[in-house]
Amino acid sequence: MIKITKKINDVIKRDKKIFINTTREAYPFVAHHGEGDFVYDIAGNKFIDFSSFIAVYAFGVNGNAGIRNAIKRQADLLSHAAFTDYYSELPVKFGELLVKMLPKGFGRLFLSNSGTEANEAALKFAKLFTDKPYTLAYYNAFHGRTNGTLGLTASRLVQRDHFGPFPGVVHVPFPYCYRCPLKLEPESCGFACIDYIRKYPLAKEVDPKEVNSFFIEPIQGEGGYVVPPRDYFKELKRLLDEHNILLVDDEVQAGYMRTGKFFALDNFGVTADIYTMAKAVGGGLPLGVTITKLSLGNIEPGAHANTFGGNHISVAAAYASLKYMHNNKRKLERQIVSKGKHIMKRLNEMKERYEIIGDVRGIGLMIGIELVRNKKSKEPGVKERDIVLSESFKNGLLLLPAGTSTIRIVPPLTANIVNIDKGLDILDRAISVADRGANQSR
Ligand SMILES: Cc1ncc(COP(=O)(O)O)c(C=O)c1O
Repeated sequence: MIKITKKINDVIKRDKKIFINTTREAYPFVAHHGEGDFVYDIAGNKFIDFSSFIAVYAFGVNGNAGIRNAIKRQADLLSHAAFTDYYSELPVKFGELLVKMLPKGFGRLFLSNSGTEANEAALKFAKLFTDKPYTLAYYNAFHGRTNGTLGLTASRLVQRDHFGPFPGVVHVPFPYCYRCPLKLEPESCGFACIDYIRKYPLAKEVDPKEVNSFFIEPIQGEGGYVVPPRDYFKELKRLLDEHNILLVDDEVQAGYMRTGKFFALDNFGVTADIYTMAKAVGGGLPLGVTITKLSLGNIEPGAHANTFGGNHISVAAAYASLKYMHNNKRKLERQIVSKGKHIMKRLNEMKERYEIIGDVRGIGLMIGIELVRNKKSKEPGVKERDIVLSESFKNGLLLLPAGTSTIRIVPPLTANIVNIDKGLDILDRAISVADRGANQSR
């Protein structure tokens, strides 16, 4: 059992006084240091990390020694190099290695500082490349919180309330088969949600000739770790190709081998026209990358740039991290897939035992557990989810929520199987507490 000390309460109190609200609500975790599969708070409590600090730490909390040494070395050489105004070799070397991980025909890159910025750039590039005004995106999507990307985001009203209107974006239903928006079954629907896009938005609301791109998350992240059926994106791509609509794949959360493949979309046998990356690609430091297909051409100088994109400390960390991934690709792929299968097996066993586990879904080490009040009604188990998060926290496991009542399991890609099992044991006990509570109130 962890201890909540006066020091913890004091930092939280001072924080609330000085910072504007963001999203911190789940439990009182006050970070201090971390390494590998573990993180410690300021009171010395030790936690197993199943969050990778929002899918950022691919190779363990605080990166690995190679990443940390690269940061230290670069800090002594040059931190900021105004990379959109001056030239420098380090980002070029990073870009050249990144291109080796990509499908053929890709490799014009833009560097920024976050997922939002990477998507904002992708949106502008899609408009520049096509000269068309409209963009398609999904309900339940999360692509960022600045004005352009917030127009694409549609996962929670609180994120959009007061900030609109957002002209030029049309939202369509995501294949969230556990809660099909069309109330159909995936085995027999024949991708009715793609027909819907064809018959309604693209026939009644916006002429497909005016659509620049369709923004997707291959697995919806913030929206609840929702995985589409394996053939879904092939079918969607056919529709987009009919109308020359670009596919923009937001790999900010699902990419960088989280699913066992470099891009999560690779699991669906489809390539996009523009990819965006952030979170894990920076090796723990802020970095966004927008990647365009070479055949799309280039943009006019001055049409887009920034101050800190290509910051040399971020790129040094990213390059060290990518070199590690590149050198260990096969081994990592194997391990991610096998650890993911192991976690899914244990979670599916728990699903048999607990009424409040409605759905378990994921690929590789991007896994969601959707909690419900009971399996039949599928009423979202919001309170149950909060109990599981806080019970796990109290027993030394860091987890994050997603969507309305989902828990995400996103351990570092290098997490040790023994620690994964220890984390799952804590989770199992936490779910049993929430399940008992739900049973009593049923
Ligand atoms: C899929 C996706 N796109 C974009 C973003 C925004 O990234 P950032 O918070 O780095 O701006 C996120 C953040 O969670 C995300 O999950």
